[in-house]
Amino acid sequence: MSSVTVVGASGYLGSELLRILVNHPKVDKIVAVSRTYAGKPVSSLHKNLLGVLDQEFVDLDLDGIDTDVAFFAAPPGDWFAELPGVLDRGVKAITLGGKFRIKDATVDKEVYGGYENSALLSERVYGLPEIYRKEIKKARLVTNPGCYATSVILGIKPLVDYKNSLDLQKIAITSISGTSGAGATPTQDMHHSEVSGNVRPYKTTFHRHTPEIESILNESFEKLKISFVPVVADLKRGMVSSITLYSRGIDADLGRHYRNHYKGEPFVRITSDVPEMTNVVGSNYCDINAAYDPKIKRILVISSLDNLLKGGSGQAVQNMNVMMGFNEKEGLHLLGGHP
Ligand SMILES: NC(=O)c1ccc[n+]([C@@H]2O[C@H](COP(=O)([O-])OP(=O)(O)OC[C@H]3O[C@@H](n4cnc5c(N)ncnc54)[C@H](OP(=O)(O)O)[C@@H]3O)[C@@H](O)[C@H]2O)c1
Repeated sequence: MSSVTVVGASGYLGSELLRILVNHPKVDKIVAVSRTYAGKPVSSLHKNLLGVLDQEFVDLDLDGIDTDVAFFAAPPGDWFAELPGVLDRGVKAITLGGKFRIKDATVDKEVYGGYENSALLSERVYGLPEIYRKEIKKARLVTNPGCYATSVILGIKPLVDYKNSLDLQKIAITSISGTSGAGATPTQDMHHSEVSGNVRPYKTTFHRHTPEIESILNESFEKLKISFVPVVADLKRGMVSSITLYSRGIDADLGRHYRNHYKGEPFVRITSDVPEMTNVVGSNYCDINAAYDPKIKRILVISSLDNLLKGGSGQAVQNMNVMMGFNEKEGLHLLGGHP
């Protein structure tokens, strides 16, 4: 059995971590950390956990973290500089914010600012099990990928076998996401009256997931560049990424190729038609469809996931399972609903 701490337990990813961890057969102790709600029952904020997790939130005390695993479901802040101490006490850490996802220290600093520690940055493992499972197994520190980044990287990665036939400089991606992607703190932009009935492209010239996606994919594609347009829509949760690539002509059954590539992967499903977002919301699955149109030499990949699960807390628990040597699916037998 193992014990876990969830820092940022009052937020949306924290809430989903708690919902998964209370049913995780290998977890027998959960410490839910919130600076704002310390001393209040968890179920007084996360009312879905009434009768399930009525213990109190505790205040943030980084020196006091002594569980087997600690999830940091908080934006990068002062706590990041305390991570080496936490790791040295034998705690395995999984961070869900963006800091250190990008391995290039200069780009990481430009995008996320703040703390620098080259030894820790080179030690950290990018928490996408479909690519880095071997490294995650041995890691003390895992940086969980961004939600957009997960859907796009999983969508493009199998095409590495055709990279010499692709125009790697012109890859157009539009990703539509729900409002929970912005976290639990209310802002004017995310006010119901602003979002209801609306579809809003944002950060159209630069989004911080762009260098994350390029840096991970370029470990195998080398010179790939993306044009990435995120869009927020009138949805609570869920994400659909539409990825367009052009080739000089390929001769492949992409459906079969993607199925072979992800054979045995517990949380990637290749669909025979365009994936429906409602089939993955509430689950840790990423559903992907890839099709080639020889008339215009276009590859269209559609990739769909739940931003709070495979794009966040579900993937973080998947990483914990790999780091701790548990069955990777433990605690993650979650399905979307139909209808
Ligand atoms: N939402 C998504 O779909 C999603 C997906 C992937 C990754 N992410 C990333 O994951 C992180 C958390 O996302 P979220 O949506 O859960 O955000 P959230 O709803 O805003 O919750 C974050 C929580 O972190 C705590 N916190 C904030 N600053 C802190 C600090 N300096 N030290 C300790 N705790 C702090 C706050 O709790 P208290 O004030 O109660 O302590 C807050 O409730 C963000 O960096 C986000 O970009 C989000």
